[in-house]
Amino acid sequence: MREAVRSFANRHEPVAKENDTVLIVSGSQQILDFTAKCLCNEGDAVAVEDPAFLGAYNAFRSSGARLVGVPMEEDGVDLAALEAAFAAPDKPRFFYCIPNFQNPTGRTMSLAKRRAVYELSVRYGVPVLEDDPYGELRISGERLPSIKSMDTTGHVIYAGSFSKILCPGMRLAFCVCDKALGAHFVVAKQCCDVHSNVWAQRVCEAMLTRTDMDAHIREIRKIYAAKARLMMAQLDEKCPAIRYIVPEGGMFLWATLPEGVEMPAFVQKCLDQKLALVPGNAFLVDENAPCQSFRMNFSTPTPQQIERGVSIMARVLAECRAPKRG
Ligand SMILES: Cc1ncc(COP(=O)(O)O)c(C=O)c1O
Repeated sequence: MREAVRSFANRHEPVAKENDTVLIVSGSQQILDFTAKCLCNEGDAVAVEDPAFLGAYNAFRSSGARLVGVPMEEDGVDLAALEAAFAAPDKPRFFYCIPNFQNPTGRTMSLAKRRAVYELSVRYGVPVLEDDPYGELRISGERLPSIKSMDTTGHVIYAGSFSKILCPGMRLAFCVCDKALGAHFVVAKQCCDVHSNVWAQRVCEAMLTRTDMDAHIREIRKIYAAKARLMMAQLDEKCPAIRYIVPEGGMFLWATLPEGVEMPAFVQKCLDQKLALVPGNAFLVDENAPCQSFRMNFSTPTPQQIERGVSIMARVLAECRAPKRG
């Protein structure tokens, strides 16, 4: 399995190098947990993209880490803010980022920023945890190199996952990192669940070595591209007041309500009609900060559900904007 994963991870670019370990883990969630467990003591700072994946924040917090949110720009993390975080007296133990089709914003970090993040990581001695579960799911634009592929110094911990390209229920993912850190991860793995399910590993290994994974991935990219296009067209037609970031891949649209419409009330009213949207503040380091955005998922619903869902949003939006009587 580890050999198959190494070939899979390296098929476009050198992700796993000579001095790197490839570890099989039970979902990339597990490597997020192990990174904090192995690198942080209670109260240590961890720099994170803000907003970012809530499951990562919770994993880091569960090890007692204090999250230092670094704001995002259109092409990825704000570099000046990142450098300030790295240079702070309480230097972060690592920096967490999702360079491809970020959860929740769908944003992609530019090539220049990937290089700059690696350079800052080396200069300040702050490892980068590069979480890349969506990288295979590009629906437009050109592939960009991973930060890990630039790593010649062992500063980058790369997390890849089979959840978004095979099956989340298999709970299989992989970590590529420097051998010395990998040895700590092995102990964490033994403490946690000893090893990942071997039956699932055999199935996954057979998929990687005996089927055309690239053809499979091309197929899901086609399906997701059509669904994303449909969702955006539906929003343009039925909810033109809602702005959104056009993602180049992944599974999510990050949408923003017009001023004057309260996001939590909007999301709740949609939920009352069985339409689930995730309130944007759930992905912020400070959950109580004002937030007009919410996350939509385009990979799971059918085209009909997408059309119905956006119609519900349009009705709820009109209701929320209607002048109140009395
Ligand atoms: C950014 C990100 N990282 C990690 C995960 C965890 O994925 P898994 O543990 O299924 O590999 C998710 C799941 O949604 C995610 O969005």
